[in-house]
Amino acid sequence: MPLSGLRVWSVIVAGIIMGACSSLSGNSSVSQQETIPLGQVVYLKNCASCHGPNGEGQNPAAPLSKDATGRFLAPPHDSTGHTWHHDDDLLIQIVREGGMGSPSDFYPMPAFGDKLSDEDITAVIAYIQTLWTEEQRTRQRQATEAVSAQK
Ligand code: HEC
Repeated sequence: MPLSGLRVWSVIVAGIIMGACSSLSGNSSVSQQETIPLGQVVYLKNCASCHGPNGEGQNPAAPLSKDATGRFLAPPHDSTGHTWHHDDDLLIQIVREGGMGSPSDFYPMPAFGDKLSDEDITAVIAYIQTLWTEEQRTRQRQATEAVSAQK
């Protein structure tokens, strides 16, 4: 009897510790709640002209198809797009340094490293994450954790 009481207690303590850890790591992730409104402002000002005001991409009728010149237009960032497949570090790098696609296949994505602060870039990514489904957010977070665990 005292033993099982102890076991129950240790489960509760472990639960409290795990809860504290997950809320700590939540705070340090790109998805910080308070950065999302800033991210939306940054997005509408700098990104919406190409990626669409709702993240629908430059060619919402066929967002992932090449145009007559054989190139991809700005892709969607919403749940129909591919952006959620990239971990946070890669997304930050693309926004800072510009697109990585070959110029013969993609229209250019400008670099924003000189124009946006690190805080703006983190915030705009946090905002884009709100355009995904819960499952996409979970999978992207796992990709981000897997990449940072390799470092
Ligand atoms: C002048 C048009 C233009 C603007 C403005 C623009 N982009 Fe892009 N963006 C593109 C194009 C075109 C691509 C695809 C080219 C590539 O990846 O090389 C792209 C690709 C991306 C990707 C990779 C997407 C993926 O699914 O792989 C991200 C992330 C991105 N843009 C974020 C942003 C953010 C954030 C902003 C605003 C700060 C922004 N872009 C502003 C044109 C633009």
